[in-house]
Amino acid sequence: MDININGFKKNVHKKIINLPGDKSIAHRSLIIGSISKGNYNIYNFPKSEDCITTLEIMKTLGVKAVYGNNNVISIISPGVENFKKDAGILNCNNSGTTVRLLLGLLCGANIKSTLIGDESLSKRPMKRVIEPLELMGGNIKSSEDKLPIETTNTSVLKDMKYFMSVASAQVKSALLIAALVASKNIVIKENLNTRDHTEIMMKYLGANIKVQGDIISLEKSILTSRDIYIPGDISSAAFLIGLCILSEKSSISIKEVLINSRRSKFIDILISMGANIEVENKLNKSGELVGDIRVTSSKLKAVEVLSYDTPNIIDEIPMLSVLAAFSQGTTVIRAVDELKVKESNRLNGIINNLSLCGIRAWYEKGDLFIEGKSGYINKDVTIETEKDHRIAMAFAVLSIRNLKTTRIKHWQCTNISFPENIKFFSKFLNIDYI
Ligand code: S3P
Repeated sequence: MDININGFKKNVHKKIINLPGDKSIAHRSLIIGSISKGNYNIYNFPKSEDCITTLEIMKTLGVKAVYGNNNVISIISPGVENFKKDAGILNCNNSGTTVRLLLGLLCGANIKSTLIGDESLSKRPMKRVIEPLELMGGNIKSSEDKLPIETTNTSVLKDMKYFMSVASAQVKSALLIAALVASKNIVIKENLNTRDHTEIMMKYLGANIKVQGDIISLEKSILTSRDIYIPGDISSAAFLIGLCILSEKSSISIKEVLINSRRSKFIDILISMGANIEVENKLNKSGELVGDIRVTSSKLKAVEVLSYDTPNIIDEIPMLSVLAAFSQGTTVIRAVDELKVKESNRLNGIINNLSLCGIRAWYEKGDLFIEGKSGYINKDVTIETEKDHRIAMAFAVLSIRNLKTTRIKHWQCTNISFPENIKFFSKFLNIDYI
């Protein structure tokens, strides 16, 4: 299904928005939350397809889940020691976080399974997680380090010290989960800091985990079940922030959004570009920092994003690139190679689609450059999304600066992370399904 977004644009005044829970934390609330035997509630659980994928797999492993009102899920876990020992085929669909975090769990718990995924996930690199798990003593089978991957019941995990060579929270999390489940000690040194929701959730549930700079040490621990509140998804909020900034005279307030410092770099960068954004009412919920984000329409100037910040805005780069396209000057985002191995090759998606819209964007020696233009685009364009949710939504935001029609292909892919998007996007945009 495609959508057409045409010339007519709307301003939004003082709109108050509550968003579904953050996708990264939702995966962890199921996988880490259910390691110990017990009952707990998850509040503000999102209906995104990726999170439903993890939920279905956890149910196959033996976890019971009951949906209540207001996006609350009640979980009853038999404890990882009582999970099914031969889980059969586990379909991870499009979700990289599901497959990589689960590999840690299955390996640590010696559960036999075959992990599969859709066409996009089957092309994504898994060596980055298979290799360190094997070093730890895991017995994993795959051909060319891609899906399908078989886990066995013959892993003998041992204590490990590991230096990360790729900046990936998914890999770091898989190792921490494997060690926790197998009651081993692990020390991980990150090459660049990545999102730390696994460390925060393990600590919240009682793990003996310490973080000192880029070193994470986890000692044998027993977790306790606790209710988990999931803050609004900052990566979905990014699109609404983008719409508000690029519209002529709008203001919105997004309530109780995740503002963990490893995820809110996007906000800091926009503020440095001149965006009118304020973060207020900060509080801690289930170990994570939450706040209200107030945005008004703004004129932006170009920015340079340094390589150590890139992992912390990795999912927001499509949105940031679109904002850079309407900023004064040339923006550079350093060290963007990881974009090539996301749900699609996002580097190509950004450069090709911006070029289609008449905006100069290019890749040089690991960095992404975008030359900003002033005013509006004035041509009919068709955005090739390669079924990548973040490319689709970033270019839907771009349409607010197109006087003609912007067609977005395969819009249904946005259900991967933000199925409710139309409810919010249609406040700013005139959208027709075709
Ligand atoms: C995620 C980590 C990031 C991010 C992905 C979610 C996570 O991937 O892009 O959307 O929840 O740990 P990498 O670990 O591959 O950087």
